[in-house]
Order: sequence, then structure tokens, then C-alpha cells
Amino acid sequence: MSNSTKIGKVYLVGGGPGDPELLTMKAHRVLGIADAVVYDRLVSDSVLDLVPAGAARFFVGKQTNNHTMPQEEINALLVNLALSGHMVVRLKGGDPYVFGRGSEEAIELIKSEVPFEVIPGITAAAGAAASIGVPLTHRGMATGVRFVTGHCRADVPLDMDWKSLADPNTTLVVYMGLANMGQISANLMAAGLDGATPVMAVSKATMPDQQTCKATLATLVDTVNARKLKSPALIIIGQVAGLADIIGPEMIAKKGSDDGEIIRSIASA
Ligand SMILES: C[S@@+](CC[C@H](N)C(=O)[O-])C[C@H]1O[C@@H](n2cnc3c(N)ncnc32)[C@H](O)[C@@H]1O
Repeated sequence: MSNSTKIGKVYLVGGGPGDPELLTMKAHRVLGIADAVVYDRLVSDSVLDLVPAGAARFFVGKQTNNHTMPQEEINALLVNLALSGHMVVRLKGGDPYVFGRGSEEAIELIKSEVPFEVIPGITAAAGAAASIGVPLTHRGMATGVRFVTGHCRADVPLDMDWKSLADPNTTLVVYMGLANMGQISANLMAAGLDGATPVMAVSKATMPDQQTCKATLATLVDTVNARKLKSPALIIIGQVAGLADIIGPEMIAKKGSDDGEIIRSIASA
């Protein structure tokens, strides 16, 4: 870099779960001034449509063949782009700090003395919750919510504290859990969680081709396989999943249902 090159800046931006209207105003603003955008496969096409025509685009994740640019190369790309003066938006699905490796990139940027800013996004769990009518907490049903990853190496079983996770008064949201649904449901039931516990699986939440799948812990695998749910998908486990029957989109759209009817249903749930 010549002495006269002004260092740019990296924005680690949450692109939300898919619907572009769920971007924050800040994310929308910095996308508009970016001259380089580094994005991966979870960023929806409609969010990418907001990238200025003149900005250079760097796609660093490809779902087919599981070919993804190694994290070290992504880090180096961000650093090099900023050091050569670019305003870089590193666009990630959901929130950069929820299973997004945003913090690994932040550490590298700090080490390389590159200015950066984190702009949060709506994480998939929050987007899905609103979209399918499943609150993540609900008084009397779930006093808390836990986000866990269901991903592990193919040859290694999931290593989780199943006893602690099998809590009927807490909602469990499993990211990246589709491939290991069998292990997850079997371990939770073995640890004492009732097989009748409601579960909602949701694929491509907030996108036009969103798919949902209603099951119980015991029927999860068969139900999701029968529906051929596609990635990316989330699994929401807990009593709150049953509330979709009361405040889900079908109920909201249902002809003849008025606010009073919905409120009475919730009160008696
Ligand atoms: C690497 S994690 C990234 C999570 C992201 N940073 C977030 O905050 O939502 C990828 C996983 O997020 C979940 N995910 C992301 N977007 C989703 C969507 N629109 N619908 C359902 N699940 C989604 C899936 O479980 C997917 O396998």
C-alpha cells in the first residue's frame, strides 16, 4: 500500500433471514455506500439486489460441493480490500454474531488495525418466530430460549449437555440441525423431554418459498423427511411451538377471526 492510500473500513453486516424489509436502516444505508461486498450463500437474492451496481461482489460460499472459501482466506480478503481503501460490506445471513463467525473476522480486523463496525441483523430464530407465529418465550410456557448448533463433523456424535437442554420450560432453537435431527430428538427424549413436546421446523424463513413443518419431538424425523424440508432450516422445540395453532399466519388470515377471538384463545391456552 502506498503512503497516500487511505485505509477503508469493513462493516460486518447482518443481512437478516431473507426478507429485505427486515434489514436494519443502518444495514441498508451502508450497503448503499459500499464499493465492495463480500457475501455468502445465506444472503438472499432480494437483499443482494440492494447492492449498488458499481460495487465489486465477492461470493465466498457455495452450497454445491460444499465448497466454501476457507475462513483464513475470507479474513485476508477483508483486510486487503480495506487496506487498499475500499468501503467493504461483509454481508452475512441473520446476525453476524450468531453462528456467523463474525467475531473471528472482527479479531482479524483488530489484529490488522483495520477500522470496522458491526451492524446487527435479525437472526433466523427471530425471523422464523415472527413468520410462523411461534414466540420464543411465552409467560407460563417458556422462561427462556437457547440457541444451539446441531452441526458436527460427520464422523463424530453431537456433544451436548442433553440433560440441561431437555428442559420443558425452555425453548430450544436448533440452527444447522437438519442432518442430525435423529440424534437430537433421540437424545432429548432419552434425557427426559416428553416425545409429545411440540416442534416446528422451518425452512427458508421469511422468504417467498418458506416451508414449515409441524411435528412433535417423537415424530420430527419422519415428518420433516416426508416434507423434504430444505436447508437452511431451523428446528424450534418446546411448548411455544404449539402456539402457531393460535397466533400463526393461518389463524391471522382466517376469515371471521377477530382480535377478541385470538385473545380469548391465548388466554385459554
Ligand atoms: C451458519 S448459521 C448462520 C446463522 C445466522 N448468522 C443467523 O443469525 O441467523 C446457518 C443456519 O442458520 C439457520 N438459518 C439461516 N437463515 C435461515 C432461514 N431463512 N430460515 C431458516 N433457517 C435459517 C439454519 O439453521 C442454517 O443452517
